[in-house]
Amino acid sequence: MVAIGAIASAIGIALALWINWFPASAAKQDKPIDTLYDVLMIVSIPIFVLVVTVVLYSVWAFRMRPGQELEDGPPIHGNTRLEVFWTAIPAILLVSLCSYAYGVLTDIEKTHRNELVVKVHAVQFAWTFSYPQAGGRTVTTPQLYLPVDRPVRFDIDSQDVIHDFWVPAFRVKIDTVPGIVTHLRVTPTRLGTYPVVCAELCGLGHSVMRSSAHVMPAAAFAAWLSRQGAPASVAAGGAAGGSSASASAGGGGGGRAQLVALGRQTFTGSGGCGACHTLADAGTSGTTGPDLGRALKGQSAAEIRTDIVDPNARITSGYQPNIMPSNFGQTLSAQQLDGLVAYLATVSK
Ligand code: CUA
Repeated sequence: MVAIGAIASAIGIALALWINWFPASAAKQDKPIDTLYDVLMIVSIPIFVLVVTVVLYSVWAFRMRPGQELEDGPPIHGNTRLEVFWTAIPAILLVSLCSYAYGVLTDIEKTHRNELVVKVHAVQFAWTFSYPQAGGRTVTTPQLYLPVDRPVRFDIDSQDVIHDFWVPAFRVKIDTVPGIVTHLRVTPTRLGTYPVVCAELCGLGHSVMRSSAHVMPAAAFAAWLSRQGAPASVAAGGAAGGSSASASAGGGGGGRAQLVALGRQTFTGSGGCGACHTLADAGTSGTTGPDLGRALKGQSAAEIRTDIVDPNARITSGYQPNIMPSNFGQTLSAQQLDGLVAYLATVSK
């Protein structure tokens, strides 16, 4: 048994260390967490193997034999030495591992000077990110933008139920709780785009409560942020920042075409509409919500606008209320909204 246990433990530990459990690291907090995870695996696997080996051996060695159906086993009395061991050893192990984990937690939650504060707001079923600016102004976007190598503090709240803010590439995650503000600290270290997910079952739309975290060079982040402030810019549409689409609905032919183009871009891009809605023209195939080419056929621009900003006002038959986020009126800029309405009115004619 000792030989079997030792071999099984060695295989288990080798396998645990060989498998990549997490996506590639993108933050400073990742290393201590990954090491903690490895240490927990190395310690738990032999204990798992010990328990399973003893159970399997006992099932085989002390199995019931023919003629023993009505017998009870021999009476068992206490074994003080054994009991002291099996209490003391797990206690020592647990206290050591908890102390180590606590040390890692305080280390990754350390406050830094020059922290960038980002407010994270959760609502069934969408994320909103706000960047408080000088002069009481706030930049709000449906996607997360972060400068590389700068410590970030997230202040997180929820409008309705408990969600959980998680960027797997940053490892850390925390519940969002209505009525209180929770905090998370991260220092992104690698450029790129990483998924933001909700890690708490929060309702029918839980699986589509996703966004993206863009880690950018500091200068690009500063440029993005200042673009959000300019009156003619398009919030959250990185690439569309410089566009000067006329916002007046029903404007001239050129303005209208530009508006429709902005709408299509918002639909497939920063608005995230295509994740849930099929629309042939946009090439999207989401099935959480209705196929918009069909559902919006013949609807007026005013009706389409209501569907976007107040999705519960009328529900396509066969679909549930409260799945579509009801805050697009806040998270989309006025131009993005005008663009979406113009675009959807055009393609669903
Ligand atoms: Cu929000 Cu799951």
